[in-house]
Parts: sequence; C-alpha cells; structure tokens
Amino acid sequence: LAKIEVKLAEIPEGKSVTFKWRGKPLFIRHRTAAEIQQEQSVNVSTLRDPQHDNERVQKPEWLVVLGVCTHLGCVPIANAGDFGGYYCPCHGSHYDASRRIRKGPAPLNLEVPAYVFQDEGTLVVG
Ligand code: FES
Repeated sequence: LAKIEVKLAEIPEGKSVTFKWRGKPLFIRHRTAAEIQQEQSVNVSTLRDPQHDNERVQKPEWLVVLGVCTHLGCVPIANAGDFGGYYCPCHGSHYDASRRIRKGPAPLNLEVPAYVFQDEGTLVVG
C-alpha cells in the first residue's frame, strides 16, 4: 500500500506506536507537553544534524518518523537511550524526543516521511 491511514484516537498521550509502511517501520508518537517543551528549547547549534523541532513536526504533539536508524538501518527501540527518545542497539545511537541524532555513530536525524492530517483525527502517511 502506498498510503497508510492512522486513527489518532488509538494513540494515547505519551505512547509510541509502530506501523508498517512500504516495508519499513513507521513510528508515530503522541508527545507529552513536557517532551514538546524540552525539544523546542534545544539549542540547534549543538546538534549533529541541526534541525529545530518545529521543522520536524506539523503539530507538536504528533511526531512521525521512519524507524530506520540512519547509521546502518537497524530499527531503534522506543523510550530508550540517554535523550528520552529512541535508542538503536546495533551500534549505540541515541535519538531525542524529536528523533534527532544526539550520540553514537548515526549521521542524521530519523527521516520524516510526507504526511497530512486528513481531518482532526486522521493522519495519512504517503
Ligand atoms: Fe543504528 Fe548502527 S545501525 S547505530
């Protein structure tokens, strides 16, 4: 399937859910106010792949990324690592709650795919 439709009501605040899309894991997280505030206040000049949190989300509470580590393509683990985001166990890359690379060998942030909010409760990726 080229597109995937996600019902947002099924993802409570503070939870990450993994879907499969075009043969790859797709991570959608319903971020908490604390996570949003923390990621928005990060000094972008300290980042390896400098991107403000606002460039990575359309609505701050919904974070949508491909679950493919930018080092060698392993699938990172949710709610793990030193930066409150994902941790890739293959070679130890740590991503923050904006899924930006913060520590370890991965060169880039997790990729944000094309998506739209079809209506208040539905997200369509692809
Ligand atoms: Fe993720 Fe190497 S593949 S750290």
